[in-house]
Amino acid sequence: MICIVLGTRPEIIKMSPVIRECERKDIDYFVIHSGQHYSYEMDKAFFEDLNLSDPDYNLDVGSGNQGEQTAKILSGVEEVLIKKKPDCVLVQGDTNTVLAGALAASKLHIKVGHVEAGLRSFDRRMPEEINRIVADNISDYCFAPTKNSYNNLLHEGIDEGKIFITGNTVVDAVFQNLEIASDKSSVLKRLGLKNKNYLLATAHRAENVDNKEKLYEIISGIKAVSDEYSIPAIFPVHPRTKKMADEFGISFEGINITKPVGYLDFLVLESNARLVLTDSGGLQEESCIMGVPCVTLRDNTERPETVECGFNVLAGADSKKISLMAGQMLKKFESGFGNACSLSDNPFGDGKSSERIVDICQS
Ligand code: UD1
Ligand code: UDP
Repeated sequence: MICIVLGTRPEIIKMSPVIRECERKDIDYFVIHSGQHYSYEMDKAFFEDLNLSDPDYNLDVGSGNQGEQTAKILSGVEEVLIKKKPDCVLVQGDTNTVLAGALAASKLHIKVGHVEAGLRSFDRRMPEEINRIVADNISDYCFAPTKNSYNNLLHEGIDEGKIFITGNTVVDAVFQNLEIASDKSSVLKRLGLKNKNYLLATAHRAENVDNKEKLYEIISGIKAVSDEYSIPAIFPVHPRTKKMADEFGISFEGINITKPVGYLDFLVLESNARLVLTDSGGLQEESCIMGVPCVTLRDNTERPETVECGFNVLAGADSKKISLMAGQMLKKFESGFGNACSLSDNPFGDGKSSERIVDICQS
């Protein structure tokens, strides 16, 4: 029996192909939702869009300081695992839910599989970096998306026999949903946007949005790109970012903001954008899968493959640099860069990562 632990927007999206694969193979599985994300547009909207059943358990831990949140998830997951005794627990990514889920399972001597293992920003001030390092080190199966993540794990002394290069399930999710999204979503019409004629922006990293100066620089940078190139900007605002912008008194004026949108609408927004500006991990991957240029609002990335393939550049949280990099990317893509690329050219796999992951767990 497989237990899938998830708790935030990207985990629901990236675990959805794993859940589908368990169903396709008729494998006994159940889902624990930590409740780290709980607002409709950060949680239930994705179960609806992805046509997933409600989780078997919801721990409803909600928001809080990382210690409190992690502890509540650890204790809640442990209780369920003791009762259900699964053979394997799967966690995905780098959130507090991942850290707690992996820790609960490993202390009960239940096999742990870490989906999206081996990513490293080499910046331990990021809570996500600590979560990744701990989860990888206590996992029995490290499902590395790329050769680079595989090498990071080897360099940390993780046993080669525990590491499997599977690709990233984000590709499976895009392949499974892009066509459905194009058929179903009317988001461009609803928001009055024209294909390839708008910028798509998101930001939510703690180190960016919890810092007044950095958040101001990011919002100013997005406005500057929009003004300079006369391209409207759309910004679905993460609840953390909304809270901090309100607290700091920073205005989004000049940018078209919305609440976070569902996955199908988001895929349409992203695949038709002229340029993506983001500090999200998933967006860096998706823009490179869908062939859309991306400017990352960070100084480093744990996804160097996106930069190496030419679809992503790092601009930090500096308005002038954001503007400069955006200009360079717009020019490069207007000259035809990426025109010959197709969905299958991306560095994150062939859309069959979940099949490999589930097969390895069952072997
Ligand atoms: C978390 C992850 C981050 C991931 C992101 C995905 C950690 C340390 N961080 O960051 O790695 O990229 O999820 O989006 O695990 N809030 C709501 N409704 C919600 C969820 C959050 O209003 O459904 C607000 C609350 O004010 C909360 C704040 O957002 O305090 C931050 O939420 P939290 O889950 O702590 O971190 P994220 O920034 O979402
Ligand atoms: N996403 C979405 N709606 C939004 C913003 C993002 O569906 O309004 C999706 C996006 O397609 C990607 C994922 O959410 O798959 C990224 O989540 P997030 O940026 O919150 O987290 P990260 O990837 O940085 O951990």
